[in-house]
Amino acid sequence: MNPSSDRRIVIFDTTLRDGEQSPGASMNLAEKMEVAQALVALGVDIIEAGFPIASPGDFEAVREIARTVRGPVVCGLARCRNEDIDRAWEAVKHAESPRIHVFLATSAIHREFKLKMDKEEIIRRAVAGVERAVGYCPNVEFSPEDAARTEHDFLCRVVEAAIAAGATTVNIPDTVGYATPKHMGEVIQRLRNRVPNIDKAVISVHCHNDLGMAVANSLAAVESGAGQVECTVNGIGERAGNCSLEEIVMALRTRHDHYQADTAVVSQRLVPTSRLVASITGMHVQRNKAIVGLNAFAHEAGIHQDGMLKERRTYEIMRPEDVGFTMSDLVLGKHSGRAALADRAKTLGYHLTGEQLNVVFEQFKVLADKKKEIYDADLAALIEQQIHAAGEVYSLDSYEITCGTGHRPRVRLSIRRGEQILSTEKAYGDGPVDAVFLAIEELTGYTVSCKDFRVHSVTVGKDAQGEVTVQVEHENVLYRGRGVSTDSVEASAKAFLNAINRIVAVGDGKKEPANL
Ligand code: KIV
Ligand code: ZN
Repeated sequence: MNPSSDRRIVIFDTTLRDGEQSPGASMNLAEKMEVAQALVALGVDIIEAGFPIASPGDFEAVREIARTVRGPVVCGLARCRNEDIDRAWEAVKHAESPRIHVFLATSAIHREFKLKMDKEEIIRRAVAGVERAVGYCPNVEFSPEDAARTEHDFLCRVVEAAIAAGATTVNIPDTVGYATPKHMGEVIQRLRNRVPNIDKAVISVHCHNDLGMAVANSLAAVESGAGQVECTVNGIGERAGNCSLEEIVMALRTRHDHYQADTAVVSQRLVPTSRLVASITGMHVQRNKAIVGLNAFAHEAGIHQDGMLKERRTYEIMRPEDVGFTMSDLVLGKHSGRAALADRAKTLGYHLTGEQLNVVFEQFKVLADKKKEIYDADLAALIEQQIHAAGEVYSLDSYEITCGTGHRPRVRLSIRRGEQILSTEKAYGDGPVDAVFLAIEELTGYTVSCKDFRVHSVTVGKDAQGEVTVQVEHENVLYRGRGVSTDSVEASAKAFLNAINRIVAVGDGKKEPANL
């Protein structure tokens, strides 16, 4: 953190709760644990690990994160209902520092149509919820949902009552992303002026991005005195998402002259964490995304390049290395050794076991034969594939395909199941990817419906690796799969098998389905 006169803004990360609620972003237990460890390394203060009453899978993930994470506070979300609060406490009680976050909507539209409760009932329930949570744990956050659209007098009454009942943080959500920066700043300022016990709690802000103003609104709240910001990695979250963690952190740090505030986030971890979340959720960030997008520091115009060569500050307000972009992106080639690979993996933020390193090194050599230049993004894709593939039942052995205009594709495909090799050869499907998927369904015995299929180039050039993400539905549950290869049909086969492996894992009772 910068000078001691700074205000220290608490970073409350809700990637694993609000972020995970975004369509298609659900994560399984192992993925949530991985993200939680990345958040610890990033230096966030609070991890909202999930909504324990929502599903057995959510409960298990919050409990495991609470048991293993050391450093940040681990928080579980609950409505103002006894069963929710009890379940949230069950999940977070083993944390080094647990928090229960209770919420209840307060705006007129929510009171009338969703809750069918009057103002007095809302206050009574909010107080009862906070009191029950305080009975378990001294660290309690209360959120009046849709606060930004709540009548101000009533919001003041609810906040005062929640603090009197023991809430140590009061969070002001702009649940539907309706606020403007001026409006959000005024809401916080008025609470500070009019709620008599406001100094007994930290004021937090939680902004959604429906009008693209989540970061601006959060910054306005900070300027008016909010001490905690709720945000997510890459800004993922319900609908248009939440306030983006990397943007708020770098705005505070880069414009320190203006905000006189900072966070404890290790900014060099922003890019690796963003990549991890993107690769796990399959929600890739746009190239021009502020801070972590591939083009965020790319200078194309000649006049800019000229200025940069003379003095980088002419066109650069932040240094790429300060947010975790590595200085030399071109890394390894086929003559690079195991030690160089291990070193690069460490720089990128991966801690590989000796066994993992052996496998990654083998795959790296295969890749280096196909591709002359191995970039950081190639290596990251290889490592993540290895980490996610651990313990999988099925893997691709080989495939061959012949296809062309006017012909049904003919595929020969073999997969491994332990020591066993399962093979098929047939002509089916209406394209090479469809044929490969049908062959995998036949060999594994799982029939699924493919809901989403995306191909994304990991780096640039015609020899670039393709990353395929698929989403398949099986018995009303969505499963995601991911595969990487320089051959996009092979990447598709790997992604499809990865999704089938997740179904198998659930069927074996190892994991809860990552809900729809
Ligand atoms: O957007 C919202 O209001 C929420 C609350 C649960 C804090 O996510
Ligand atoms: Zn939210």
